[in-house]
Amino acid sequence: MSDVPFFAFMDNILFLHSTESTNSDAYSLAVKGAVHGFGVLADMQSAGKGRLGRNWISPAGTGLYCSIVLRPNLSFTEFPKLTLTAGLALCTAVESILPDGLFGLKWPNDLYCLRRKCGGILVESSTPSCPDNESFVVVGIGINVNTQLDEFPLELQHKVTSLRILSGKIYNIKDLYKKIRTSLLEHVRIHEKRGFEKILHEWRKRDVLFEKEMQWVTHDKEVITARGMGPDENGQLLARDSDGKIHEILSGDVQQATNGEQ
Ligand code: BTN
Repeated sequence: MSDVPFFAFMDNILFLHSTESTNSDAYSLAVKGAVHGFGVLADMQSAGKGRLGRNWISPAGTGLYCSIVLRPNLSFTEFPKLTLTAGLALCTAVESILPDGLFGLKWPNDLYCLRRKCGGILVESSTPSCPDNESFVVVGIGINVNTQLDEFPLELQHKVTSLRILSGKIYNIKDLYKKIRTSLLEHVRIHEKRGFEKILHEWRKRDVLFEKEMQWVTHDKEVITARGMGPDENGQLLARDSDGKIHEILSGDVQQATNGEQ
């Protein structure tokens, strides 16, 4: 992305053929004042970022890679919960194009279908030192849209899916972007006006780890096995182990115990 001020873009969207990462672009534009709902959408990314420092492989023509700037009317302490709000918005948007009940959410914010990952979200916020009236969140969304199974790296093929694999149809990525953006702004409004509880209620209905045995590795490198209880009112995941102890998972990766990575 060249160094141009955000107001050079029409309709609150910047389309790029290629960029390193739409999240990095949206973040720099937010620092320069990009408005609530402003989005960056790219055909491909050369350094797409995933959660936990991973790469998000982003070839041209197959996936949706976008990042949307939010300036929610919420206190900074609510910002981490927006991860779940964004996940619900994404799930609701894809539910409107494929049969109900097909999609689910894996904490904190992976889009799942039939036990395979179809998309993910990376949320990045302005620093806590940023004045309240300038603070922002960037919601980065990657979805496998028109990808065929043999186009994924071999080592991922048993655990991923795409909208095309699920339905046999090819989707217009810009139309899908518009649907997701609308859903995201609607869900942020619900979060602002009716509170996170309303979001949580809907999120829990889609929780693919609920009551499932799952495992994760703690900071002390201990592997814990426990049953998913869903996210709490702060958006942190709770799980009960076989001794009845309740664990609170703040960050990191959880895996379904029976069938490897979920
Ligand atoms: C994950 O599941 O690890 C989150 C993946 C998020 C990927 C998207 S693609 C568009 C946006 N730009 C990035 O660099 N990352 C996010």
